[in-house]
Amino acid sequence: MAKITLDRMLQSQGFGSRKWCRELVADGEVSIGGETPTDYKQAVETDGLVFTVFGEDWTYREHVYIVLNKPAGYECSRKPSNHPGVLTLLPEQFTWREVQPVGRLDHDTTGLLLLSDDGAFIHAQSSPRRHVPKRYVATTHEPVTDALVAQLLGGVQLHDEPAPLHAVSCQRLGEHQIEIVLEQGKYHQVKRMLAAAGNHCDALRRIAIGGLTLDALALDEGEWLYLEAADLTLLAGGTDKG
Ligand code: URA
Repeated sequence: MAKITLDRMLQSQGFGSRKWCRELVADGEVSIGGETPTDYKQAVETDGLVFTVFGEDWTYREHVYIVLNKPAGYECSRKPSNHPGVLTLLPEQFTWREVQPVGRLDHDTTGLLLLSDDGAFIHAQSSPRRHVPKRYVATTHEPVTDALVAQLLGGVQLHDEPAPLHAVSCQRLGEHQIEIVLEQGKYHQVKRMLAAAGNHCDALRRIAIGGLTLDALALDEGEWLYLEAADLTLLAGGTDKG
């Protein structure tokens, strides 16, 4: 059980500065269980708390874990320069909470992207020691040949890597489509591996991280949802969600 003052609670959930949160309370824009508190110093129990701001219901979350089906044309960097940032696809509260992408997808890559405001989670997920398989579907410029699949499985040398990188698994899906599973997350890894193997990536979509799959989540491009504890266990690998 944890109690904090109403203004702190609102601030922790991304509703703006402490001053602004106090004004929200004073203006009667916040309600809890049908009551509209007027004292921002009121202590509220955060466990299981559901509250309303501007008529919209929110559940208190100490941290948020989000999955987004990223569309093309959005940057994952904190300070996007050429395209809008992925955070513009999410409610403004998440920017205030300092939610950030867990790893990066290129601006033109689509598919599964995790975001969180839990530093320990972001750090653990991004650790090179953590071998979470990431599954991609690439559309290739040149036809997918058996030799390409064999090369990606056998390992390709990228100029700034000490040793060849290889796909954990690799499967031809069609004349110009290949599924590639990687355990590392090097810069532009799929595109560079395809280029090093003599092909070119025309489009790239991430379809799974560990056992969390885009199919099971049924998210359209640009849609997102909260990951709950059971979803987070899927990130370690294992079975598909759903
Ligand atoms: N590999 C790439 O080349 N780009 C991505 O966005 C992800 C993996």
